[in-house]
Amino acid sequence: MKILLTGGAGYIGSHVAAALVSAGHEVVCFDNLSNSDAAVMDRLEAITGTVIPLVQGDIRDGDALRAALNDHAAGAVIHFAGLKAVGESVAEPMKYYDNNVRGTLTLLEAMRDCGVKTLVFSSSATVYGEPRYLPLDEEHPTSATNPYGRTKLMIEEMLADVAAADGDWRIATLRYFNPVGAHDSGLIGENPNGVPNNLMPFISRVAAGRLNELSVFGNDYDTPDGTGVRDYIHVVDLADGHVAALEAITKNDQPLSTWNLGTGQGYSVLDMVEAFERVNGVRVPYRIAPRRDGDVASCFASPERAARELGWTAERGLDTMCASSWRFERMLATRNAD
Ligand code: NAD
Ligand code: WQD
Repeated sequence: MKILLTGGAGYIGSHVAAALVSAGHEVVCFDNLSNSDAAVMDRLEAITGTVIPLVQGDIRDGDALRAALNDHAAGAVIHFAGLKAVGESVAEPMKYYDNNVRGTLTLLEAMRDCGVKTLVFSSSATVYGEPRYLPLDEEHPTSATNPYGRTKLMIEEMLADVAAADGDWRIATLRYFNPVGAHDSGLIGENPNGVPNNLMPFISRVAAGRLNELSVFGNDYDTPDGTGVRDYIHVVDLADGHVAALEAITKNDQPLSTWNLGTGQGYSVLDMVEAFERVNGVRVPYRIAPRRDGDVASCFASPERAARELGWTAERGLDTMCASSWRFERMLATRNAD
């Protein structure tokens, strides 16, 4: 089956493209390159030995989507395309509702028009809002604390309505925890524009000397060392979870399924710094800074439903996450020196 990946040139989409090809699937990427670079396709070719077509287009353009689905005879879609910066979503909410919500509605209409009703959607643990209990299982109540999170919730609700109205759909909603790390090859990884919002790319850039020091946002949380605890998941494990989810929904008879993709293991900010320094033999200077608005003390998954129903569990530990992030950071330095 040929699978169309919206946002397939991005951080997670590119790793899923590699995983799908190695599992024997055919892939086409559809991306407007607003947060990625077409050069990723050459790197994917080097990794997979396969030319993966890139359709440069916007998910808010229904005609472009219909053409891509028909031209490539796609049988399923994995939908990564979206904006994801929490702070920016607070400043520019309309941009987020337009891109994420309108974009997804346009995609659903195009899929319906083309008779493609198999969809895997990139959701986020952000839909759990402030945790009422831990670990977070899929039955935990949902809520949003910022416009980005609200777009994910709205899309989840839209998908539930679509699946309830037409039982031919096969939709998987995947709630990612904190994806980090990079492909073993060091060829693809996370390279955000500007100053990174997320912890791991920030740590990498401090270690590389591209940023002076890490600000640790708060050390007075109710956690073992006072810093925030998260469920970091290696992006290659996350990618394998997509392959498992796609294969499961094409076989099962449920119009809608929801799975957490996490490890179940929480690490603090200082755990991350310590592991990165130890594994890579580098220094990550940091200072304690005030808490960041909207952050919670701890957030980690119950990965049990995915283990039971998909036969998938994350295998790569913290050291592998740190080593692969650093390998990618060094690859970037080599590229910039060229
Ligand atoms: P990313 O920015 O690297 O990838 C998103 C891709 O979508 C980019 O290549 C971008 O160019 C493309 N895109 C954006 N808007 C588009 C549009 N209108 N039309 C076509 N292409 C468009 O981000 P990522 O980290 O790979 O995230 C992928 C998905 O996973 C997003 O939906 C994000 O919300 C979700 N997610 C990410 C994380 C995380 O921490 N990285 C966590 C939870 C959920
Ligand atoms: C992790 C920890 C910070 C940066 C965000 C989104 C979420 C999801 C994943 C998309 C926290 C601390 C961070 C820094 C720090 N994305 N930190 N200094 O906040 O768990 O989740 O990304 O869906 O929706 O909200 O991830 O990597 O930003 O932070 O101390 O410079 O690192 O306070 O404890 P977060 P993060």
